[in-house]
Parts: sequence; C-alpha cells; structure tokens
Amino acid sequence: MSPEIRANPYPFYAELRRDSPVAQVDPGGLWAVSRYEDILGALKNPKLFSSAGLRLAAEPPWAGRPNPMSASIIFMDDPKQHGRLRGLINRAFGPTALARLEPRIRAVAEELTTRVLSRRQVDFVEDFALPLPASVIGTLMGLEPELYPRFKQWSDDIVAVSVTQPGDTELLAQYRRTVDEMEQYLSEVIARRRKTPGDDMVSDLLSSRIEGEALTDKDLMGFLFLLLVAGLETTVHLLGNSARLLAEHPDVLARLRADRALIPAFLEEVLRFEPPVHSTMRLCTEDTTLAGVSLPRGSVLALLLASGLRDERYCADGDRFSLDRKGPHNMAFGHGMHFCLGAALARMEGRVALEVLLPQCSALARRSEALEWNLSMTVRGVRALPLEVRPA
Ligand code: HEM
Repeated sequence: MSPEIRANPYPFYAELRRDSPVAQVDPGGLWAVSRYEDILGALKNPKLFSSAGLRLAAEPPWAGRPNPMSASIIFMDDPKQHGRLRGLINRAFGPTALARLEPRIRAVAEELTTRVLSRRQVDFVEDFALPLPASVIGTLMGLEPELYPRFKQWSDDIVAVSVTQPGDTELLAQYRRTVDEMEQYLSEVIARRRKTPGDDMVSDLLSSRIEGEALTDKDLMGFLFLLLVAGLETTVHLLGNSARLLAEHPDVLARLRADRALIPAFLEEVLRFEPPVHSTMRLCTEDTTLAGVSLPRGSVLALLLASGLRDERYCADGDRFSLDRKGPHNMAFGHGMHFCLGAALARMEGRVALEVLLPQCSALARRSEALEWNLSMTVRGVRALPLEVRPA
C-alpha cells in the first residue's frame, strides 16, 4: 500500500516472482503469490483455497456492520450452492441481454464523447470512465438516473474498508453509513418491483425460481450490492487505463483509428498490462504447500493477478505494451467457478466506448505527470486522469 509501490508495483512483483514466488509480505501477514501457474492452480481449487479469504478483506472483523455482499456468490465455495444462484443471474449477462443493452451503451458513449470533445481539458475518470459504467449498471438494475452519481461514493466506501485498521473510526463510520444507505435504498427498490414488476433485472430475479423456490431478499440484496461494487470500479479502471495507455502510445491510437477491428485486441492487452483487479484473496482450508512453501491452514493468500499476467514464464517481454500480442489466456477476469460474471459486459463497454470516441478524437494527451492511485487490496486505478482530448 506504500505510495511508491502503488504508483508502480511491477518491479516489486518481478522481484517476488524471481526470488520468492510465495512470500509472506509482513510477518504474520498475507502470503503474496506472484507466478501465473501458482495463481491459476489456486483459482482452480476452491476447496483448498477458499473465497472466505476474500471476505476477510471485504469485511474485516472490526467493520462492525454485516455487509449484505458477504452472503453473495463471490464468497461461496460450495460449487452446488454457487452454481444454483449464479445460474439465475447468468442470463442477465448473456449474449441476448447484452445485445439489447448495446444501443443504450452507444448512446451514452456518444453523449459523453460530445461532452469531452467540447470541453477538451477533462478529467477522463469523472467525465467519461465513471458515468458510462454507472449508467450501464443503473439501466441494468432499473435504478433512477439521479442516483448514478452516488454509485461511485457507495462503491468507494465499501471497497475502502479492506484497507482499514481497527482504529480508523471515521472511515469505518462512513462505511457503516453507506451500507445503511444502500440497504435502505435497495430494499425500497425490491419492494417497488415486487409490487409493480418492470423490464429490469430486479424484476426478473424476483420472478425467478430455483427448484421451485423464490430468491430470498437476503440473496437478492447480496447480488445487488455485489453488482454495484464489482461492476463499477473495475470497468471505470478499464476505461481509464485504456485512455491513459492511448495517451502514452499515440502510435497505437493511430492504428486503432485506422482499423477499428483492432479494438478488442487492444482491450485484451490493456487488461493484461494494467488489470483493474490486481489481486484477489483466498484462505487455505488445510495445511498445504504451494511452490514448495509450507502454508498453514488459515493462511490468507493474495493472488497477484497483475503479476501473473506479466510473468515471463507465461508471456515474453511482459513489461512491454504491445498490440500484436496473442496471449493464450487472460486471467484479468479470474478463472474457474468465480470467473467474472460481467466479463463480456465490460469488454462490450470498452469496445463501444472506443468505437464511438476514436473516430472523433485524433489524440489524447496527459496534462500532469503525477497520478494519484486509489487504496484498495484488490482493485488498482487512478482517482483522476487529467487529459486533453483533441478533436479529429
Ligand atoms: C468476479 C474482474 C467487471 C461482476 C470477478 C473476478 C475478477 C473480476 C478478477 C474474480 C474474483 C475472484 O475470483 O475472487 C473484473 C474486471 C472487470 C469486471 C477486471 C472490468 C474490466 C464486472 C462487471 C460486473 C462484474 C461489469 C457486473 C456488472 C462480477 C461478479 C463476480 C465477478 C458478480 C463474481 C462471480 C462469481 O463469484 O461467480 N470480476 N470484473 N464484474 N465480477 Fe467482475
């Protein structure tokens, strides 16, 4: 969490991969797992490497307020229980639902593009990267547009709890207020949709049945919290990182402008080179060994996805951003039973955003060198991205 490592963690990751691929970062603290194969192995074995580790980060014992998200699928280890619930929501993120959502995403991207081009000097996070996914999630859930600007604060407060200490009274009080506010607002939404169903995901989930049984309000609330947190910040950083890399690589921007069929390959390389989710946690359910290192039961692992994606054993010259890479597999969305539910949606948001923005914009230029990085155990991205957007 130190500012220097936050700003550029990659040399530190490379050192870990070279010298101690499974290393306890602080005495008694987390075990950092930095090589691609070891991370993948852990993600494939939820029985031994449980997602309860992730829950410890999302809701430390001193948080003082149960968070409905802890009852959601991302923390479940039992494939049967997880599969039943995930089966219900998969449809909302499948190809048919996404195709229906695409025109709406394009319309929002067009509106935001017009705005950033008219201003030219923008904070790309606030003016583009944030409002696009906020509006997508809001539309998907059928929430009121006036609330979209609140989503970021909600998600920030929930994520910030992962880096609190027991004495951080102010941060913890803010976290508890936010959980209360979200819970109150979302229960009203659920009650309204129960009374008058609409054409939205909440209404669909309320009418769905698992083996004849309806979802409980607790399950539903867990889903909604999870989607607001997992789907927003991550996509904001995918869009922000894309813009930052295009500003740093004008040749790449020119190639994408000349051939928009390259946009999906560009996004895959952004996800590999600067993945929004830097690490995810797992808890060892038994004494075990990983890469020859003994791990006692109860050890918490930080699986450094962002390190794995630059692992020289997995991809040659991984510290170089290249549009011509043909990676065999991108772990930025995780792997196995918890593979990201929103991967196709996030890729679509990225593709549509660039398809709309790039024809109208000839260059992006950074306006200041110093960037401020967020603080979170899992997600990494900039808080603001001052850019000059030059019209074509
Ligand atoms: C899970 C990354 C966008 C919803 C995950 C995981 C990763 C990830 C790494 C696995 C976590 C683990 O195994 O511990 C990303 C990235 C995104 C993104 C990099 C954007 C670029 C989204 C969006 C949504 C979403 C847009 C929904 C609106 C979820 C959910 C899970 C998940 C619900 C849990 C799935 C399960 O447990 O079965 N995501 N995500 N994500 N993501 Fe995403």
